Amino acid sequence: MLSSPCLLWLLALTSVVPRARPWAPPDLEEEDDDSESTPGPAAPCDYDRCRHLQVPCAELQRAGRPACLCPGLSSAAQRPEPPRLGDVRVVAEEGRAVVRWCAPSSPVHRYWLLLWELLLWEGGGAPQKGPPLNATVRRAELSGLKPGGAYVVCVVAANGAGESPVPGPGEDAVPAFGPCGRLAVPPRPITLVHAAVGVGTALALLSCAALAWHFCLRERWGCPRRRPVDTQAADAL
Ligand SMILES: *[C@@H]1O[C@H](CO)[C@@H](O)[C@H](O)[C@H]1NC(C)=O
Repeated sequence: MLSSPCLLWLLALTSVVPRARPWAPPDLEEEDDDSESTPGPAAPCDYDRCRHLQVPCAELQRAGRPACLCPGLSSAAQRPEPPRLGDVRVVAEEGRAVVRWCAPSSPVHRYWLLLWELLLWEGGGAPQKGPPLNATVRRAELSGLKPGGAYVVCVVAANGAGESPVPGPGEDAVPAFGPCGRLAVPPRPITLVHAAVGVGTALALLSCAALAWHFCLRERWGCPRRRPVDTQAADAL
């Protein structure tokens, strides 16, 4: 398996081959090499692009003995690809939401969140920008969300070459599996209780008014219930 050219090429690419002569003819060092310089198949690093506080793979690789394999990254001279927004968990009672994301296959120096109210997003307005987060972070909290509010949240990655793109505000649909997502904060349960009490009170008042009108006002002002005209008219029909 080690001698397969593909794997050797991979090893060379990720600079984990300890020897300077990966292409040396095998018959030169046939005997003594077996135990010492056969590191076994290099394992992938314990790197998860969605894990919070994940050390960058390049650092794992530098620290590892033997060095492990990292997923390929785009060039550091290009702005990062967009991260992928994951789970958004809303804590309605506290007006906050916890947002998670996964790193792109690009070198990233920092992240931040952008938050629009839905109407502002649709109108192409400017977002609120969150504080910068270091490259290990995959989870952040939004606070001060209004009960019953609707928002769009995007995560941006940045490196020395620029920022990852964000779909243009104003777009009706927020693309799935991209850096953005919608989030809706349910109305406070207490608000619902108030609404229920309000509707109940209104109904009770209406009933009272109807009863009062029926028993009291009609009596006092002599509501013309059996006017002779009506009776005659009815008879005529
Ligand atoms: C990155 O930020 C997190 C959360 O604020 C913090 O716990 C961690 O120590 C920071 N890491 C580095 C390398 O600065």
